[in-house]
Amino acid sequence: MATAPTEIASCVEEQENIEAEEAAPATCYSKIEALQQFGIASKDVSNLRDQGYATVESVAYAPKKQLLDLKGFGEAKVLKIQEAAFKVVGKMGFVTATTFLSRRKDMVKLSTGSSQLNELLGGGVETGSITEIFGEFATGKTQICHSLCVYCQMPMDYGGGAGCAMYIDTEGTFRPERIVQICEGIGLDSSDTLNNITFARAYNSDHQMKLLSEATRLMSESRYALVVVDSATALFRSEYIGRGELSVRQQMLGRFMRELLHICDVFGVAVVITNQVVSTPDAMSFKASLKPIGGNIIAHASTTRIFLRKGQKNTRVAKIYDSPNLPESEAQFAIADGGITDSSA
Ligand SMILES: Nc1ncnc2c1ncn2[C@@H]1O[C@H](COP(=O)(O)OP(=O)(O)OP(=O)(O)O)[C@@H](O)[C@H]1O
Ligand SMILES: [Mg+2]
Repeated sequence: MATAPTEIASCVEEQENIEAEEAAPATCYSKIEALQQFGIASKDVSNLRDQGYATVESVAYAPKKQLLDLKGFGEAKVLKIQEAAFKVVGKMGFVTATTFLSRRKDMVKLSTGSSQLNELLGGGVETGSITEIFGEFATGKTQICHSLCVYCQMPMDYGGGAGCAMYIDTEGTFRPERIVQICEGIGLDSSDTLNNITFARAYNSDHQMKLLSEATRLMSESRYALVVVDSATALFRSEYIGRGELSVRQQMLGRFMRELLHICDVFGVAVVITNQVVSTPDAMSFKASLKPIGGNIIAHASTTRIFLRKGQKNTRVAKIYDSPNLPESEAQFAIADGGITDSSA
């Protein structure tokens, strides 16, 4: 990777400039106003915006049933709007695998700060899908999230996504001081970097869910490259206790994950969630094995799942637990003042 730049441009103020750049294939989206060019009345466009549909993608990918529930939208209007949205988005139909491959090659991947970990991930954390990081306490889940918040802001040539970061903290462990330390460690100005991170603390699972609506609004106004939820499951786990509440918990968690997937589709951002593990007895080996919590709900929503464990001293080992295209290999990385780095061990 090339030497890191020393300054980060503010992606909030300069959003228009960034949007003009063609070099952002996986993190671009169209504002809802674009529908007007395809014959949708400005009154309907502002009505859609007021009801939470701020991008063309959010309309194109929404089930018809959901749009019919909006105030002021009947069958004929919804059909016309979705037809216009498909024209703007222009990628709803079949394409050849060759086209799809070239789209994937254009996909932005976010650097973690460690080239070994990036390599394990096939170049970095994928934008447009959910990556889950799970492991026991102090294995580096939160540290990776902090590093990603810094690296996602870098230009694409430097392993970034040239966008802001959003951090939903359910455990009270986000530390802006750590962001400053990471910036100092890699010689980056920290003031713009901090301004480009939007942070919210979620106090209960309902609040965590509500924050996603606010996130959607913010993302339609500024360019984001990353959404972190640290941890996605902790509040659900502490609020819905025991077998009796398991199915409700899974249902609520499912709703949350569906909304996150929707954010990936609409905004093309990388979504990174962290998750805890439970120890379950393994009948085959008579040893306990560590499993991520959340069962099938989390498993199906996450495209890439990474398991972390402690290595020697400050090193950690990351293992691909599940991925549609990566082998189950391992990589070592280290946690240092400058964030996640390569391990020399
Ligand atoms: N500046 C630093 N330099 C080196 N190591 C650090 C630094 N800051 C934190 N660490 C180490 O990072 C580890 C904590 O990692 P992290 O907070 O990411 O754990 P976690 O996997 O999120 O755990 P939990 O499940 O409790 O949330 C600790 O071992 C801590 O010593
Ligand atoms: Mg943590």
